[in-house]
Amino acid sequence: MTKTFTTHPLPADAGPETRSLDAGLAIDPATGAIAPNVSMSVNNVLMPGDGAFSADGVADLADLPYLYARWANPTVRQLEQRLAALEGAEDALATATGMAAIAGTLLTFLKAGDHLIVSDVCYAGAVELTQRVLPDLGIEVTPVNMARLDRVEAAIRPNTRVIHCESPVNPILRIVDIAAVSALAHRYGALLTIDSTFATPVATQPLAFGADLVIHSLTKFINGHGDVLGGAVIGRRDLVARIRGRAGVYLGATLPAQSAWLILRGIDTLYPRMRTICESAAAVAAFLENHAEVERVVYPGLASHPQHALAAGQMASFGGMIGFRAREPKAAAARLAERLRIVHYAFSLGHQRSLVVLLDTDEMMASTFRLKGEALDDYRAVAGDGLFRLSIGLETAADIIRDLDQALTR
Ligand SMILES: Cc1ncc(COP(=O)(O)O)c(C=O)c1O
Repeated sequence: MTKTFTTHPLPADAGPETRSLDAGLAIDPATGAIAPNVSMSVNNVLMPGDGAFSADGVADLADLPYLYARWANPTVRQLEQRLAALEGAEDALATATGMAAIAGTLLTFLKAGDHLIVSDVCYAGAVELTQRVLPDLGIEVTPVNMARLDRVEAAIRPNTRVIHCESPVNPILRIVDIAAVSALAHRYGALLTIDSTFATPVATQPLAFGADLVIHSLTKFINGHGDVLGGAVIGRRDLVARIRGRAGVYLGATLPAQSAWLILRGIDTLYPRMRTICESAAAVAAFLENHAEVERVVYPGLASHPQHALAAGQMASFGGMIGFRAREPKAAAARLAERLRIVHYAFSLGHQRSLVVLLDTDEMMASTFRLKGEALDDYRAVAGDGLFRLSIGLETAADIIRDLDQALTR
């Protein structure tokens, strides 16, 4: 007897933890396998009359059968449905990296003669893409401190099509008032895209505050294990379909199925991981605030964060990223690199193991941010001569604290 297995739809009122495990989960109809299969096929058999051979004008993936894996792949599709559910969105596109999601989104909605407003401080790759590459394509770009709403409004032009920012901002953990910036964007007919990598969907749901598209580097907390690259853009079905056409089909920024499978496995534990990480981050931030070698701690959950009230209104938890300033930052960095035994002195963030690195302000200005005047003063007010970017992992919080203490202490 042949049995076909079916997937039961989730109840409409399923909680976020349940959705993060089961939204889009497709039981294999032939075998009943619960864990997703890794679908390696590049092409799928077609029925005569099936689908759209050009991605242009494909408004709904339901109209686009699996015909070629650069368009869509069943494993990647499960990931996309899970991501859409995490953000309370209609659809998602998974991409090869977080940068591919940012570039694919901006290159979909901007053309020569259009204007982009971008957060003057955000992930270095996004700063360099928007301020160095996009102008070469005839796109006008204005960097703005998005915490200064009057500056955002003043920067808007008749040809402003997109406003792009992060919250919290990498690396200085500035909070952007998503509802206020989205109201501004929409008043002038622009789209608001938010890179929410630092927050994760557990802490903030930008679409609920009016953002049009949420972007994630899945490489960070969402996969959470430091072993795969990925990105996503999540939002309204018609917007995502346009990005799929450009970024996936024409720019080829597609996520491989094996990566999608790993990220789905990572997401299974996103909520409990983030709960542990946020609890530990609060304890580590409080410890650092009282450390003799530490001049300043920046964590949205601390009452000392200048935008703590805004963060509390917009974030369900305060995330796993901490910034701190040490006396004599370069000497402190050398001690950390030499002495840390549990925390790793390394770039990247959002892994299961804690990571820390010094971002020297002069070096960041020379290589990436190039801020001047008020914008530079705003940056220095937080980062001083250099900010340590600390990404909290899943180790015992007391061990992270002891390790930082012995390495920081002269
Ligand atoms: C906030 C943010 N967005 C995007 C990216 C880029 O992600 P990826 O390395 O997956 O391209 C990063 C990487 O550090 C990031 O921190």
